[in-house]
Amino acid sequence: MQVIIRPTAEAAIQLAARIIEKRIRQFPDTTLGLATGVTMERLYAILTDCHKNNGLDFSLVKTFNLDEYIGLSSTDECSYRYYMNQHLFNKVNIDLRNTHLPDGMASDLKIECEKYEKRIKTVGGIDLQLLGIGKAGHIGFNEPLSALRSRTRDKSLTPMTIAQNSPLFKRSEDMPRRALTMGIGTILEARELLLIVTGKSKAEVLAKAVEGPITSMISASAIQLHERCTVIVDEAAAERLQAKDYYYWIFESEPEWEEYREEI
Ligand code: F6R
Repeated sequence: MQVIIRPTAEAAIQLAARIIEKRIRQFPDTTLGLATGVTMERLYAILTDCHKNNGLDFSLVKTFNLDEYIGLSSTDECSYRYYMNQHLFNKVNIDLRNTHLPDGMASDLKIECEKYEKRIKTVGGIDLQLLGIGKAGHIGFNEPLSALRSRTRDKSLTPMTIAQNSPLFKRSEDMPRRALTMGIGTILEARELLLIVTGKSKAEVLAKAVEGPITSMISASAIQLHERCTVIVDEAAAERLQAKDYYYWIFESEPEWEEYREEI
């Protein structure tokens, strides 16, 4: 795992966007795993800007989102399908048929989850999986005690996640209490992981995920098992990390980051 600390949330998200942009330019038919949430909004705005002003081409890109609320249709403004359409898909030249989210309205959720896993396998797996972290330590909606080998399935949300996300609903009681989510096992099969974390409110959970023991109580800690995982954070989120000096040094000295150092 490599942890990269940038001075501000904007700088952290700019760096993540550059990584994704370069990946799409290098491999135009890449398969991205996508996340939703407040952190990703700015990322998708930067990618949209790259498309509009720098010709970033999404025409062959395929995407699989991590999760979707159960019971919300794609036209519901709070569904993750709606979010993705609003923040990215409708603003770039992606083929909507290449964009996938689990269907939270499916009549048989178990079959829907199996189909989702199959669809990921059919395209050859996910090349780069974007992740954010919830205050309960989740990635996707893998709430505490999610099995480290779990697959796409339905999951009950914790009170902490409900408190985190319900302000986004017009009436907080309308927030679904269950969601479909890729499992930790599904996420770990992506060829590369990119976790983006910003803000002081995530400092404690980030430290647990990155430097704490691997435990299903903090499902994000499972990223420590992945061979190619980059964690990009701002200074506020990095506040509780113990090996900060080492992480700064990685960005300043590792050849892999040279091109990004020059750009920023
Ligand atoms: C949503 C998802 C979640 C979020 C996490 C952080 O698709 O995967 O794990 O990434 O809850 O959300 P924000 O960015 O709103 O703090």
